[in-house]
Formats: sequence, C-alpha cells, structure tokens
Amino acid sequence: MITASEWQPEIGVKTTWSCPSNIALVKYWGKKEGGKQLPANPSISWSLSDLCATTEVEILPKSSERLIFTFDHAPKPAFEPKLLQFLDLVTPVCPWLNQVTLKVNSTNNFPHGTGIASSAAGLGALATCLVALESGLGKQTTVGVEAGGNTVDGAALHRPMDWKKVSYMSRLGSGSACRSMYGLPAVWGETSAVNGSSDQYAVELDFAIHPNLQGWEDCVLIVDAGEKSVSSTAGHALLKNHPYAEARFAQASENLTSIVEVFGNGDVKRFIEIVESEALQLHAMMQTSVPYYLLMRPNTLALIEKIWQYRESTGQAICFTLDAGANVHLLFDAKNKLDIMNFVDTALFNYCDNKRYLCSSLGGSPKEC
Ligand code: PMV
Repeated sequence: MITASEWQPEIGVKTTWSCPSNIALVKYWGKKEGGKQLPANPSISWSLSDLCATTEVEILPKSSERLIFTFDHAPKPAFEPKLLQFLDLVTPVCPWLNQVTLKVNSTNNFPHGTGIASSAAGLGALATCLVALESGLGKQTTVGVEAGGNTVDGAALHRPMDWKKVSYMSRLGSGSACRSMYGLPAVWGETSAVNGSSDQYAVELDFAIHPNLQGWEDCVLIVDAGEKSVSSTAGHALLKNHPYAEARFAQASENLTSIVEVFGNGDVKRFIEIVESEALQLHAMMQTSVPYYLLMRPNTLALIEKIWQYRESTGQAICFTLDAGANVHLLFDAKNKLDIMNFVDTALFNYCDNKRYLCSSLGGSPKEC
C-alpha cells in the first residue's frame, strides 16, 4: 500500500537526483483493462546506469502556475502537458503538491534525437526528487530561513527513501519508468515467480544474481534517431482487440518465470534465447495489430544478422534486444568487452545512423547529486 504523505512543504527547499533509463528483457506491451497504467503481463528490465536524466526540484510559494519547467535550463512547452498530468496523478499520494509551485529543471546525459526513450529516466528522476523532499532530504536554499531536511541534522530528520513509492509514482507517469529505481533486475507486474511483485510498482530481484549474469553491458546501436512513427501509448492500445494478445500475455508470463530462474542458475544460453525471442515478439505484435506497423529498419535486421554470425563464430555471450523502435541494444558480458567493442567498431558501426552508438553498464539506481 502506498500511503499519502503528511509532510508539510518548506519553501526554498531543493533536491537534485539522477535516474537511469532501463531496457526490458521481458517486455511490457499491453495494459490491463481498467485501472491506471497496469500491465497486462509482468516484465523485467535492467537499468542503463550510464544513460540518465538529472532533475532538480525546488519548492516555491504557490502561484498561479503549478509548475515552472525547463529542460537544459530553457523552456520546453512540449513536455509540460505530460508533467502537469503526472503531478495531478501523484497528488493523492503527495497532497503537499497542492500547496506549492514546483520549479523543475531536467537534463539528459545522452543526446536528444537518438531514439532512446527519455521518459523513463526523466519521470523516474522527478518522482525520486518528490519522495526525497518528503523524506526530509531536501536542502534549504533561502538565506534567513531555518534550514530543513538534512542540512541541520540529516540523521535525525530524514527518513529512508521509500523506493516502492518512487516506483509507484513513476508508473503513473510512464509504465516502464517504474523499473528504473533498482540496481538489480526489476520486475513489474504480479507474478508467482517473484515475492512481493505487484502491478502497482516494481521490485528488484531479492536474490544474488549468478556470476555469469553480472557485469553485463549494453551498447545501443543507433539505427534511426527520429521520432517513433507510433507512440507507445497508441501501441499499447492496439493490444485491446489484437488476435494474439492472450497468447502473448501468457508467453510473457512464462518467459518472466524462466528468466528469473536463469538469473539464479546462470544459464546464459537460455538467457539469450528468452531475450531475443522477447524482442522479436514485441515487434511481431506491432506487425500483426490492426492497423499494423513496422518499427524495424533494414539496418536493424542487418545488425541482428551480424550479431548472430558473431555469436556463432566466437561462442561469446552476446545477444540483442529491441525497444519500441529501430535501435538495436547489444547486450554482452563485459569480460569480452575488448573483442566486442572491436567487433562494433569494425563490423557494426557502419549500419548506425551517423555511425553513432551509446554504451552503458547494466544495473544502477537513482543517485543524489
Ligand atoms: O512505458 P511505455 O508506456 O512507454 O511503454 C514502453 C514499453 C516498451 O518499452 C516497449 C517495453 C518495456 O517493457 O519497456
């Protein structure tokens, strides 16, 4: 249960946090009927610790505006409707939001126009800041006002961060964002395979990951840096009357159970099989919805073929996954990093838009800045 905070906001208090993006291994695609942003099947993801949003939130006295938002310190009116909607959705659990105006600045450490979803990291960082403020972690910036939060006596005044609440709030903004809070693989959606799992928020796996699946990395091969032709909101909606929806939801639940086992037993071959099959199933659902659509590009397929050939010839632990777009996420065990980056730089980068790719370690959670 996520409870409403009784915190009384302090004007001038400010906090800054970074939050990673994430890549799903078993995909969330399709929402449950009724409820707000509840998944039709459980999903699991890894955070992309080097691809982050950093968000700064300051509490101002209430004015006619609920939110003063900048992106990279410049106005960004296009983002405001989604953020205002987010604030409305989280106010029942943060009623103090009714008493203030928020000044928010957000930045991403990855370039805009790379086809990497920034909403998971951005909404995750904003939700983290709000929960940090009500946990007493903010710092007073106004001269002459008695300092609040941990600037006086952190140990005495602040409460531990409620990461379930951060995840719950992030979910209301963007479903997949709720999995960005955890260092270990994060599961969102009720499943008997994971203790404490919920449709309301994500939880991290509660056991030690097998060494075979520790220290993995993701090299995001940028195939198409443009905007998606079909938004994920529209994509989820097309699952409603989809002829294969029920079979897909059942398959995703089975894959979730299997991959959780794999994280415990270190069966890399099975890991690769599940992850690649999930990527193709996600795109198969798009290609078989009504209306149908295609987000892969010729270079997406060329890269997949190259990755398969490389794996076949070297036997190295490497596979691909896809998000809702044309980019290819190359997942690999970092113990082979030198070889694999050499492979990227000789055989793959020519298929990338402007020869661009972005690398990140897998795992990682929000950090106070
Ligand atoms: O969070 P949304 O509504 O943008 O959905 C995105 C879903 C995928 O990224 C395609 C898959 C996933 O589980 O992250």
